[in-house]
Amino acid sequence: KRKSKLSASILSADFGKLAEEVKAVERAGTDWIHVDVMDGHFVPNITIGPDVVKAIRGVTALPLDVHLMIEKPERYIEAFIRAGAHYLGVHAEVSPHLHRTVQRIRELGARPVVTLNPSTPLCAVEDVLGDIDMVLLMTVNPGFGGQKFIPSMLPKIRRCREMIDESRLPVLLEVDGGVNRGTIDDLVDAGVDVFVAGSAVFAGNDYARNVNGLVERMR
Ligand code: DX5
Ligand code: ZN
Repeated sequence: KRKSKLSASILSADFGKLAEEVKAVERAGTDWIHVDVMDGHFVPNITIGPDVVKAIRGVTALPLDVHLMIEKPERYIEAFIRAGAHYLGVHAEVSPHLHRTVQRIRELGARPVVTLNPSTPLCAVEDVLGDIDMVLLMTVNPGFGGQKFIPSMLPKIRRCREMIDESRLPVLLEVDGGVNRGTIDDLVDAGVDVFVAGSAVFAGNDYARNVNGLVERMR
């Protein structure tokens, strides 16, 4: 049985029928639901808040993998955890007290994730590796779905895999952005554990076919 996970990003879902979309990708066989929270400051786009996360929590039993793309994320972690976030990710670029923030996420009962933009070096997460459950490497610049995978992120992903393996810590490696049938093989090869996919999952109307096209390549 495969160990790696597919986390379907609802950013590419039809927000007018979000509950149905979430249930449809659950039926299609995704492992997790990835929820993109954007504030119009850290990233140019604006999406959803804790109330919508709570609504999603009510319609699926799958783990919610919540990706905060907001400034001062520490102000909102409690609200998102109360709303049902299982994994909660903050960006290192907007977390000057990252150690404190990830401790707080764990204290409040969620699994801490640290996210890095394409240009942010791995050393930004190195010293909190023992305090988190997952590193999320962005493989596009965050803000929008449907962007092209940045190929120069592959060596970074491999180095992150080595860093985690050498630490012997139980930390997962997740990637987000431009994951599709054309890029997934290289990512599997690089040792990714969790694959976020938005546009590749919500394309057309056969979600099961989309999900299978990805998970059949995963290990
Ligand atoms: C981008 C978001 C992603 C986005 C990925 O800022 O963090 O989760 O939904 O979309 P695709 O898979 O279409 O690149
Ligand atoms: Zn995301």
